[in-house]
Amino acid sequence: MASNVNPVYGNYHGYYSKRPFVRDSRLSLLPPGFFTGKTVLDIGCNEGWVTCEVGQIWGAQCAVGVDIDDTLIRAAWKRRRSLWSQQSPGLGALEEIQCQHPSAVAPKRAKLHDVLDHDYFPASCEHSYGPLPIPSNRTGVALFPHNVTFRTMDWMTEQDTGDEIRYDIVLALSITKWIHLNHGDNGIKTFFQKIHRNLTSGGTLVLEPQAWETYSKARRMDERLRSNAKHLQLRPGDFHRVLGDIGFGPPTRLGSVGEGGFRRPVDLYVKV
Ligand SMILES: C[S@@+](CC[C@H](N)C(=O)[O-])C[C@H]1O[C@@H](n2cnc3c(N)ncnc32)[C@H](O)[C@@H]1O
Repeated sequence: MASNVNPVYGNYHGYYSKRPFVRDSRLSLLPPGFFTGKTVLDIGCNEGWVTCEVGQIWGAQCAVGVDIDDTLIRAAWKRRRSLWSQQSPGLGALEEIQCQHPSAVAPKRAKLHDVLDHDYFPASCEHSYGPLPIPSNRTGVALFPHNVTFRTMDWMTEQDTGDEIRYDIVLALSITKWIHLNHGDNGIKTFFQKIHRNLTSGGTLVLEPQAWETYSKARRMDERLRSNAKHLQLRPGDFHRVLGDIGFGPPTRLGSVGEGGFRRPVDLYVKV
C-alpha cells in the first residue's frame, strides 16, 4: 500500500532522522499522567516512534499505531523490538516476581517507567547480535512491548463496523495536511468525525495541525494534490470550528514546539 515514489500521504521514510528525538517534545507538553492506564490510537504513526514512547515511557495501557504505508509499519515493529532490546530487564524481572508471588505488592506502572534504563543493552550489541527476543506475556498485564501494536490501514477508507474499540486518547500529529490535500474539505471533516466516533465519552484528541503556508510545497508533489488544493475552502484555522460542530469542546493550546518548519501548535480537544 502507499507508493513511496512521492510521499503524497506524508509517508516520509526516515522522517525521524529529520525530526530526531529521545523524548518527543510534543508529548512532553502533555500533563503528567496523561497517558497512564489509557488506551491510545496514533493515526499516521509513521515509523512508530511516538506510539512506542507512549507505551514504553508514558504508561499507556495500550497504544495502537496505524499508517497507510506498510513499509513504515514494518519499520515501526522493528523500532518496538529495538527499544525492547535496549531496555533494562528490571521490569521483566519484576513481572516474574509478581507472577510467582501474586500477593507481592504491585509496583505502580508510572514508577516502573521512571526507573527503567532504556539503554541497558547498547544498540551496538543489537547490530552485532540482533535484537533480543520478546518473551511471551505470561502475566496478562500488558506492559511494553506487549502493549504496543501496529497496523497498516488507510484510516480514511477503512469502514467503521460499529463495534470498534473506543480509545481514551487519539493522536493526530502532523497528519491533517495530508488528509486535507488528499481528501478535500469533506475528507478532513470525515476524518474528525471518525475520530469522534472512535473516542470514549470524555476522550481526548491531541491535534498538531500543519499551517496553511506549508500546503503549497506539499501540493507541488503531485498533480492530484495540486488539483484538490484548488478546491479547498477550509483552512487549518477553521478546524476548531469544525471540531466544535462535530461535538468537541473548545481547544486547549498546550504550546508550540519543534525546530524550524516543524514548529507547530499542539491542541487538546475533549469529546463532550
Ligand atoms: C508527516 S507524518 C507524521 C508522523 C507522526 N504522526 C508524527 O507526527 O511524528 C504523516 C503520516 O501519516 C500517514 N498517513 C497519511 N494519510 C494516512 C491515512 N489515510 N491513513 C493512515 N495513515 C496516513 C503517513 O503515511 C505518514 O506516516
